[in-house]
Amino acid sequence: MRLFLDHLYVKAVKERHGFALLECDKALLTKKLYIKTYGCQMNVYDSDRMADVLAPLGYAPTDMVDGADMVILNTCHIREKASEKVFSELGRLRQLKERVADQQGRCMTIAVAGCVAQAEGEEITRRAPWVDIVVGPQTYHRLPELVSQIDPSSRNRIIDTDFPEEVKFDCLPGEHAPRGPAAFLSVQEGCDKFCAFCVVPYTRGSEFSRPAKKVLDEARRLVASGTRELTLLGQNVNAYHGDNGSGGVWSLGRLIRALADIDGLERIRYTTSHPLDMDDELIAAHGNVPQLMPYLHLPIQSGSNHILQEMNRRHTRDIYMAVIDKLRTVRPDIAMSGDFIVGFPGESDQDFADTLALVSKVGYASAYSFKYSPRPGTPAANVEKQVPESVKSERLESLQQLLNAQQFAFNKNTEGKLVDVLVERAGGRVGQMAGRSPYMQAVNFIGEADQIGQIVSCRLSAARQNSMKGEIINMKVAV
Ligand code: SAH
Ligand code: SF4
Ligand code: F3S
Repeated sequence: MRLFLDHLYVKAVKERHGFALLECDKALLTKKLYIKTYGCQMNVYDSDRMADVLAPLGYAPTDMVDGADMVILNTCHIREKASEKVFSELGRLRQLKERVADQQGRCMTIAVAGCVAQAEGEEITRRAPWVDIVVGPQTYHRLPELVSQIDPSSRNRIIDTDFPEEVKFDCLPGEHAPRGPAAFLSVQEGCDKFCAFCVVPYTRGSEFSRPAKKVLDEARRLVASGTRELTLLGQNVNAYHGDNGSGGVWSLGRLIRALADIDGLERIRYTTSHPLDMDDELIAAHGNVPQLMPYLHLPIQSGSNHILQEMNRRHTRDIYMAVIDKLRTVRPDIAMSGDFIVGFPGESDQDFADTLALVSKVGYASAYSFKYSPRPGTPAANVEKQVPESVKSERLESLQQLLNAQQFAFNKNTEGKLVDVLVERAGGRVGQMAGRSPYMQAVNFIGEADQIGQIVSCRLSAARQNSMKGEIINMKVAV
């Protein structure tokens, strides 16, 4: 049973909104909540927080959609494929909802949350009128209120995609369910950069940084509940500029130093960063904060200065390379990761060759690459010089070949190394446990379930494409 059946929270919500909520009664604790999460890590964090918000109403999370009383799809709008997935999932849910009503006389609530909800709220209720609630990323703290407004007899649809005055984070319950050895913590949200291809500034709104004290409080609670590694999240996490409680502002580098003082917090990561916001304090932290792991996801999108300009990235490839040089000076073994888009409007063979050249120069430990997907409402979608699909596919294939080869080479290069692994879960095979190396590699090794949550010393014995085989060594070593 969730630890935080928080009558006080229910009371606080009632007082804030002035409406009658269901009483948090133990008898109601039978309601099952199924959340399916698409998209980025921030959606993973938000899904956990939605579960926290609904817990006082008696909803307990389940892994099975069958039998659920409420289903939330927490959606992603970043590419067309991601958005369309939502509508096919909604088709399946319609059948389930009808079956549950016919066979069990039960009403299953369906909610669509996240970035598709924000961007296409009206469209969702038009195309899928069996959806009860549409709630955006900035208003999910209002879910208890929205659930209370559902009236099965009138089949009303509730849409809340405001960018509200109140700060969402202030309205989320202080208590939350334990999140395991490696957890996400949102510190920053939204984006003011407006890259020409990207929907995020429209779906998540403008940049907002949580005050440092709130972040530190949440981090301490997570560590007290067993978390050993925190990944600080933000759409532009290194643009963090949080109130420090004494009239000043902390950068992400400063925040990381404060987090490193929390006893029991062994590892810190952050994602996703923009090259222009890699300031000296943050780069220095990679050299002098031992808890900050030697791995960085730093997307560039293209290796061509012309395309970077068309993308409105506001930096050149030289600026990006200079950041990597500085990072490698303070932390020579740092593993680099990135994102790439191929086939952005106007991308020539030479522009694409520039991307391949940049990748060869950097040497990535891992990276994500995508075909450009025109998104409604973004400037690049209306540009005439769209690249044909067949060219996008060819370019994606050659880029991925190079990136895969680099990933394997990186893994191969770590063979024989002794590294710390945070044990997170049982592995795929019997007797196997799984965790991550400091460089974010998935490591599988023979171990015991009671090692979950511990940091063990592992010799990386064999490289695979996407993971490492390891062997536990009974001796703790520094990274
Ligand atoms: N905040 C992150 C990016 C978030 S979106 C950052 O600034 O780096 C994650 C990735 O999706 C982007 O880095 C980009 O590579 C990809 N992406 C975003 N919009 C896209 C589009 N319209 N088509 C294809 N890929 C896209
Ligand atoms: Fe999107 Fe660019 Fe903002 Fe990243 S920096 S979220 S790619 S607009
Ligand atoms: Fe997708 Fe929204 Fe994240 S569009 S990538 S879920 S910010």
